[in-house]
Amino acid sequence: MATNRTFTMIKPDAVNAGNSGAITKMIEEAGFRIVAMKKTQLSPERAGQFYAIHKERPFYKDLCTYMSSGPIVPMILEKENAVEDFRKLIGATDPQKAAPGTIRNLFAKSIEANAIHGSDSDANAEIEGNFFFSHMEQF
Ligand code: RTP
Ligand code: MG
Repeated sequence: MATNRTFTMIKPDAVNAGNSGAITKMIEEAGFRIVAMKKTQLSPERAGQFYAIHKERPFYKDLCTYMSSGPIVPMILEKENAVEDFRKLIGATDPQKAAPGTIRNLFAKSIEANAIHGSDSDANAEIEGNFFFSHMEQF
């Protein structure tokens, strides 16, 4: 079933570089409404749970270390066709391949430190949003 919500988090490289404000502005200007937002930090264990789908991939351990290395800004976003439109706004995983003007093209440092996450399906958007926020935190 299609929904109009997605989940994102601004990753440690972009938060540390002071780009969370500029990225949030781009998200709102692209027509997404912020349903929930906070600043927090993952432990390596919780980063591992979040990215459990990648457990068998060679980059998994590095990814968990990196994602727990500093603060992140998770958000739930709302817009028609949210999941697909948001993946377009962030661009390809590898910033070298991300289209001009996308968030990763503008702010990512590497294929790992790539500034931002975007859910890849409606089902994962719901699971990932619930990983960070209770229903009482969603407005
Ligand atoms: P995300 O889940 O964070 O939105 O990224 P994605 O769908 O574009 O990419 P995915 O394949 O789900 O990979 C998750 C994150 O793992 C890191 N990664 N590192 N070193 C590498 O080759 C490599 N490949 C992926 C990135 O941080 C990627 O966003
Ligand atoms: Mg992914």
